[in-house]
Amino acid sequence: MLYMSFSEARESILNERLKRRREMAAIGVDETLIERMVDTFYDRVRADDHLGPIFSATIRDWPPHLAQMKRFWRSILLTTGEFHGSPVARHAALQPLTRSDFDHWLSLFAATLDDVATPPARDHILTRARSIAASLSQGIARARLQEN
Ligand code: HEM
Repeated sequence: MLYMSFSEARESILNERLKRRREMAAIGVDETLIERMVDTFYDRVRADDHLGPIFSATIRDWPPHLAQMKRFWRSILLTTGEFHGSPVARHAALQPLTRSDFDHWLSLFAATLDDVATPPARDHILTRARSIAASLSQGIARARLQEN
């Protein structure tokens, strides 16, 4: 079929989302896990000697950041389409982030997933996080090149 009507397109998107949600539920990824993952991870970030100060230099009010991160992960994992942001620009505006900052972020995130997720959910989410971290750091490098 070449053209779809608006309602057919809408139905097809909703069906895809439903399919995705079922596939994710089958490995233990759902809204409840995302809530727990984000809350636990940023509790640990705040208490972390290395990452804590980088975050607290920018984030004064945590609840809106946590809500934004939950929208982000639901969009990534459940294709809800509810995240609207500019991650590259936001991270490029922080103190220059190094490979070791990203490695540390990822190891804290992996340790959080070990504690809150089933093994298949952990593997799936970690794979997504690693690839987002890689594209984020590339995007930051590109943004900096354009500045100079
Ligand atoms: C060294 C590693 C990282 C540090 C220090 C860091 C720090 C931050 C900070 C301080 C903010 C708030 C920025 C603002 O509101 O102006 C932020 C936002 C955000 N971070 Fe990170 N981050 C890191 C890595 C990551 C990774 C690996 C991901 C994804 C897997 C990620 C996803 C996001 C998203 C989605 C936002 C919201 C962006 C927006 O609202 O446009 N971050 N991060």
